[in-house]
Amino acid sequence: MLDGQKVLFSGIQATGRLTLGNYLGALRNWVKLSDEYMCFYCVVDEHSITVRQDPATLRKRSRDLLTLYIAAGLDPKKNCLYYQSHVSAHAELAWILNCFTYMGEMNRMTQFKDKSAKHEDNINVGLFAYPVLMAADILLYQTDVVPVGLDQKQHLEITRDIAERFNNIYGDVFTIPDAYFGKVGARIMSLQDPLHKMSKSDENPNASIYLTDTPDDIMRKCKKAVTDSLAQIRYSEEQPGIRNLIDIYSACTDKTPEETVREFENAGYGQFKEAVGESVVSVLKPLQDEMKRLSGEKDYINSIIKENAEKAAYYSSKTLRKVHRRIGFPDRIR
Ligand code: TYM
Repeated sequence: MLDGQKVLFSGIQATGRLTLGNYLGALRNWVKLSDEYMCFYCVVDEHSITVRQDPATLRKRSRDLLTLYIAAGLDPKKNCLYYQSHVSAHAELAWILNCFTYMGEMNRMTQFKDKSAKHEDNINVGLFAYPVLMAADILLYQTDVVPVGLDQKQHLEITRDIAERFNNIYGDVFTIPDAYFGKVGARIMSLQDPLHKMSKSDENPNASIYLTDTPDDIMRKCKKAVTDSLAQIRYSEEQPGIRNLIDIYSACTDKTPEETVREFENAGYGQFKEAVGESVVSVLKPLQDEMKRLSGEKDYINSIIKENAEKAAYYSSKTLRKVHRRIGFPDRIR
């Protein structure tokens, strides 16, 4: 809680091209929840440098991502949209929380295992300690709820563990946050290998739908999506390809998977794939148009960046001060 309001925090990394998974698993839910909470939506650029980044590309992607938050429908007057690197409390709290996190816990993180396998030449300490920075992001704002996709479940659990451990030693300092997963769309799978999640870094160009894809690209990728030879549209573990397409269609049209199955009961796979493609286009096209319009509004975006960084710094410094006091760091002389 902050100022008597429940708090929501979430973030996306400014790395790679964002996918439909990022949109349906995160952004779309953010917009739906934004009226109910005091919201902080962060462009987590400090997380991005756990993998080598080209400076100009990182700067551009960060800006595009913040613009995307607005284009997706997050009102920057009501929601705090900002860059992590503009608020130094994130890195400061992360250092402190490092001292309350065990190597064994970090060693168990599946994302660390996956990423270190992918970047064998650069297994840096930041990559290892990444979940601690994520915990700091969340705990700084006394967050009640964190809407994310299912791939972040383990990171949310460790955040709660770290917060509880700290509170047990120093009294109630942090709110213990809950993860929020959307009913559909919390785990969008690759279109080419539906047993793996749709990912920004997939090398197969047909595996992921990117938020910048043209309607033609989207239709083509949906038509090429890997399915099966059962020729029936059912929501079942045995049909991961069809199940994923049902999830995508349901999330894009705000239907339940059961409603989607009923709608396409007698349809062939070709017809269903076409409808899935159209549902994705109908969601992404307005987003792309709004992105294009906003990219021209340089001064407006700059003013948002400035105002919201100040707002985030104000609230996060309150928590950080409390942490310093409880730990026993000397008071500042004013
Ligand atoms: P990131 O940038 O990898 O992904 C951003 C959001 O998109 C979700 N997501 C998906 N959801 C459904 N299906 C998919 N295939 C899919 N792929 C990605 C992710 O679950 C996430 O919600 N560590 C985080 C960023 C972060 C963060 C935070 C999130 C840093 N600090 C604090 C919440 C709170 C990450 O790398 O997400």
